[in-house]
Amino acid sequence: MAVKAFYAGSFDPITNGHLDIIRRASRMFDQLVIGIGANPQKPGMFTPAERRELIVKSCKGLDNLQVEIFSGLTAAFAKKLGCQVLVRGLRDAQDFGYEMQMAHMNRHLNKKIETVFLPTLQEFSSISSSLVKEVALLGGDISGLLPKPVMDQLAKKIAASIARK
Ligand code: COA
Repeated sequence: MAVKAFYAGSFDPITNGHLDIIRRASRMFDQLVIGIGANPQKPGMFTPAERRELIVKSCKGLDNLQVEIFSGLTAAFAKKLGCQVLVRGLRDAQDFGYEMQMAHMNRHLNKKIETVFLPTLQEFSSISSSLVKEVALLGGDISGLLPKPVMDQLAKKIAASIARK
C-alpha cells in the first residue's frame, strides 16, 4: 500500500531545518503533502501564497511532493487528503513534550493516523523561522539557515521595509 504523509507547519518562512525534514520524509514515504497552516491570528511576514511559492521553489527536484494551504484541524485535513502519517521534526527536549501532546490529540481526533518524529540535524536544532527573521531584520548573518529562494525574498522584504521608513 502506498503511504502518504502530511507535514504541517506555518513555514513563515521555510528554513533549511524544515527542508532537511522534507527531504528525508520524501524518501521515506511514497507521497508527502506539505500543509501550510493558515492562522488568521498569526499573519506572519509572508502571506500563505508566498510561503507556498517559496516551498515549491526550495523543494525543486523532489517529485513526490504536494503543497497545500489549509485552515482548521491538521488531523481532519490530513484525513481528507488520504494521509496515514503525520511527520514532525523534533529539535530538542522542549519540542518533545509539546509534540507528544499534539501526537496524542491528533490520535484522539483520527485513530487511523500515526505521528512519525524525525530528529532535526544538529546544526538546525536551535533555529526557528521567527529567530531567523529577527536576526535578518537586525542585519545579522543568517547564511546557511535558509534556502536560496527564501534568502532572496527575505532580502527584498527587508529592503522594502527600510525604504518605507
Ligand atoms: N527546523 C527549523 N525550525 C523548525 C523546525 C525545523 N525542523 N521545526 C519547527 N521549527 C520551528 C518553526 O519554524 C516554528 O517557528 P516559529 O514559531 O518561529 O514560526 C516553530 O519551530 C514551531 O514549529 P511548529 O511546532 O511546527 O509550529 P508551527 O507554528 O510552524 O505549525 C501547526 C503549527 C500548523 C502544525 C499546528 O498549529 C497545527 O496543527 N495547527 C492546526 C490546528 C490543529 O490541528 N490544532 C490541534 C493540534 S493537536
